[in-house]
Amino acid sequence: MTIDTKILSALRAAGEGGVAGTELSQDLGISRAAVWSRVEELRSLGYEIEASPHMGYRLLSAPDLLHADDLHAALGKIKIIGRDIRVFEETTSTNDVIEKLARDNVPEGAVVFAESQTRGRGRLGRKWMSPARKGLWFSILLRPAMRPATVTQLTIAAATGLFRAIRAQTGITPEIKWPNDILIHGKKIAGILTELSAELDKVKYVILGLGIDVNITTAEFPAELRKLATSLRIETGRLQNRADLAIKILQELDRDYDRVCAGQFESVADEWEEHCTTLGQHVVIHIGDRILRGTAESLDSDGALLLRTQHGQLDRIIGGDVTIEKS
Ligand code: BTN
Repeated sequence: MTIDTKILSALRAAGEGGVAGTELSQDLGISRAAVWSRVEELRSLGYEIEASPHMGYRLLSAPDLLHADDLHAALGKIKIIGRDIRVFEETTSTNDVIEKLARDNVPEGAVVFAESQTRGRGRLGRKWMSPARKGLWFSILLRPAMRPATVTQLTIAAATGLFRAIRAQTGITPEIKWPNDILIHGKKIAGILTELSAELDKVKYVILGLGIDVNITTAEFPAELRKLATSLRIETGRLQNRADLAIKILQELDRDYDRVCAGQFESVADEWEEHCTTLGQHVVIHIGDRILRGTAESLDSDGALLLRTQHGQLDRIIGGDVTIEKS
């Protein structure tokens, strides 16, 4: 933990009461003048810190920026996800950055956030718009001991954790669309891009890339997306604190990754099924040039969608673009 992070943690813990300069200087083992100079530095980053002779230092507000040490300190006790957090002002795609880290043998659990991406990508080769400080654009490195065919379990687990974090932050209950879209009132708010490197029967590493539209306004969405996509700001009518949401998401994903690794995918899947609006619906699935029609019946033990086709057979679907057919 850096000195700045320790100061921020102490200020947060002290809350309204504030913390005396002498106390901070003793706890941190630095002079009072050094505490003052770090506080000045934090102020220049946008932290609003009040200093008074009676109350000491009080944190009034934190800026809307992602700060790696600060996120790490606020995360508390986690098992794997968030052990190493890095924040970039701008990248091509956070999935690219994590891929480089994976090749450099960085341990699993590393998370890379970018305030903006110049080449953010979505599933099926689509572009993912990632405007600066308007959303959460980040990727996670995992090294699960699993076969490539079961990696869908991780996408399902990530969608479930994401669902819970968004519900906790906003009070709105989103919907999950198979396999990994999160919707509010039928419009997409978040998506997950899962990429992996594997041998025939063993995963080397998995990259979970998550994109959440947090504070984008309607005017900022391109016209062609306005009917399909939304943001937490639009749906709640208020600006959302991105750092708080990022912390909640990482905590929930850590919990669900742990459940999957402990062989408890079924309990994750039950939770996922409860909130998935795709099941029971008539759907059209585009897989490359193939088009399948049928009823989304249930989830297989490895996370695949079981589709009852119009010819009555049960097909296992592990990817593709699902559209719900209006009857
Ligand atoms: C989807 O198509 O629904 C998946 C979107 C995933 C977007 C995220 S943003 C962070 C990470 N980096 C990328 O380039 N894509 C993912």
